[in-house]
Amino acid sequence: MRIDFHTHLLPKLDDGSQCVEESQAMLEALRLQGVDLAVATPHFYSNHASLDDFLQKRSTALELLRAACPDQQPDLRLGAEVRFFRGMGTAERIAELCIAGTNALLIEMPFSQWGRGESAELQQILSRGITPILAHIERYDSFQKDLSAFNRIINLPVLLQVNAEALLRRKTRKFVFRLMDHDFPILLGTDCHNMQSRKPDMDAGREILARKYGQSCLEQIDALGEDLMK
Ligand SMILES: [Fe+2]
Repeated sequence: MRIDFHTHLLPKLDDGSQCVEESQAMLEALRLQGVDLAVATPHFYSNHASLDDFLQKRSTALELLRAACPDQQPDLRLGAEVRFFRGMGTAERIAELCIAGTNALLIEMPFSQWGRGESAELQQILSRGITPILAHIERYDSFQKDLSAFNRIINLPVLLQVNAEALLRRKTRKFVFRLMDHDFPILLGTDCHNMQSRKPDMDAGREILARKYGQSCLEQIDALGEDLMK
């Protein structure tokens, strides 16, 4: 099953889709690329909105989209892209932001040097039986002057989400290839926000992976995703 683990396609929630029609166009673009399931991951910032408010607005956005296109494909699963915050490891209701039906939580890590604080929060999350998925893992290494905390964290039993478009640029492609060469557990997402500058583009990145590592690597990535969603 082909899954897009990172999308901003729910309408009028964050800096992603701004209307139902745009959401429909994004879904259609994903369908045409063979995506069977998309996880809706609107931004959640703990300092901007209460959890109840976020959950309520998210359900309303989903209802709006479902009412406009009842037979919409791909299927949608609710999730969130949770911006890392101090105290998230012990935040009582953090599990409510996991991808529906799973114990996996998509986390946007700080765009700054990582250290013990990040590592401790993630370990606390893991100790509660929640699996962190580190969103667009290719976007942080340039912020690390010292890679030791970064390397320690990606070696925790976490999952690493790669934006498919990262494979289209030389520097990030090299980084993703390094992850692949070391057998890190990868999930793919488009991180689509609209139909212009950040549109759903899964295919081009998958093709690059298939050319380099063979079709079997895509099968492995898809199997890992499917397993997670069970
Ligand atoms: Fe995102």
